[in-house]
Amino acid sequence: MSIIKLIDLPELSDSRGGLVAIESGLSIPFDIKRVYYIFGTCEGMVRGFHAHKALEQVAVCVSGKCRMILDNGKSREECWLDSPSKGILIENMQWREMHDFSDDCVLLVLASEHYDEGDYIRDYQVFLRECENV
Ligand code: TYD
Repeated sequence: MSIIKLIDLPELSDSRGGLVAIESGLSIPFDIKRVYYIFGTCEGMVRGFHAHKALEQVAVCVSGKCRMILDNGKSREECWLDSPSKGILIENMQWREMHDFSDDCVLLVLASEHYDEGDYIRDYQVFLRECENV
């Protein structure tokens, strides 16, 4: 099964312009407890480079684009987030990296839990070891 799970967010755009509505439990397969967004990323900068033990997230570029890499410890896949109606599900125990942010990129992230540094795995070798124990 593919690591990349895209979610078609419902577009309600009309002749006036764009509108996307996101609802917990409908297009998003968890209750949303936290929302954050990444913007103004400096040229050439990369983000992510961690996994979460339990947290689930959906990420969507509401403006611009970036390249998302997901890695489950066995294989690695990537895709462009380049549409405000294209969400990507980031499950627990998936290493994520974000690259090639456009100048206008605003990456919105919906998260299943409040912020908890204890849920992060920030070392790739530790992540690989944890994957083997699952
Ligand atoms: P981090 O998750 O490492 O960013 P990225 O994955 O985009 O590279 O977060 C950067 C810093 O911000 C880190 O010190 C943790 C803090 N932070 C919070 O305090 N609350 C949050 O909801 C998030 C996402 C990060």
